[in-house]
Amino acid sequence: MAITSNLAEQVALVTGASGSIGAEVSRKLAHLGAAVAVHGRTQSVLNKLSAEIHRNGGNSEVYVGDARDPEHMITVATDVTRALGPINVLVALAGGEGAPSPTDSFDPERWLDVIDTDLNSVFYALRAVLPSMIEHGGGRIVTIASSAGRRPSKANAAYAAAKAGVVMLTEHIAKEYAHAHIRANCVAPSIAETTKLRDRLSAQTRDAIATSIPLGRIGQPSDIAEAIAFLATDRSSWITGTTVDITGGMTL
Ligand SMILES: NC(=O)c1ccc[n+]([C@@H]2O[C@H](COP(=O)([O-])OP(=O)(O)OC[C@H]3O[C@@H](n4cnc5c(N)ncnc54)[C@H](OP(=O)(O)O)[C@@H]3O)[C@@H](O)[C@H]2O)c1
Repeated sequence: MAITSNLAEQVALVTGASGSIGAEVSRKLAHLGAAVAVHGRTQSVLNKLSAEIHRNGGNSEVYVGDARDPEHMITVATDVTRALGPINVLVALAGGEGAPSPTDSFDPERWLDVIDTDLNSVFYALRAVLPSMIEHGGGRIVTIASSAGRRPSKANAAYAAAKAGVVMLTEHIAKEYAHAHIRANCVAPSIAETTKLRDRLSAQTRDAIATSIPLGRIGQPSDIAEAIAFLATDRSSWITGTTVDITGGMTL
């Protein structure tokens, strides 16, 4: 059987596409030939990304809204299917850590907000695309956790618990839907130099972090996007239910 790595005539939905990692993933999937539905809350950023994809010869549509709203995600999946065709690839990246805070003083409303953003949003995206993937003979799903969900860290406990939940949710989906030719995998980065992070770190802190990483540098969004693209194509056709730690050796 021929193994192809290109995504020609495939449709991918990327949530969190307005973030640095999501934008890089969207560019990469478009480069591999997929029509990419880019989802997030910031329309101006998504419009720019989509225009860039079109300029480079790709196909893309913009979808704006809250990934924490299950009905909105159903509408997105329906609209993507109508505009681009059935969704073959879901990359669920919407999320965010929020400020760390001791658990004993963690505000319960904030706790729910983090769980909603980082875990429930993944379930809502899955719920929106799975029926069509089953109907059309399969699909590939890539979720994003974090090193914070793999072992205790300085991140907040809600984020860590949500991301650990994403790992298990992904494993569960992999097992539950393997019979339907749906593969589901997760990536768990430690630190990626997004625009937001770059704006926040002094050169000194950045160098100190880079020095503490065995491979000697902070990860780039392209490092994460490369692994996601691999998991989204047939090149990873016998890989499912796994979580790829992308850390430069940081968690060893
Ligand atoms: N950067 C890292 O070092 C790192 C490490 C481990 C894991 N991660 C994970 O990687 C993913 C992407 O993060 P990033 O670093 O690229 O951060 P980012 O630049 O802040 O991107 C976050 C993305 O998620 C979207 N998003 C957040 N809440 C949403 C909501 N309620 N509805 C719809 N979209 C929502 C944002 O949309 P808008 O901006 O349009 O609101 C944005 O597109 C996150 O899940 C994060 O937890 C990042």
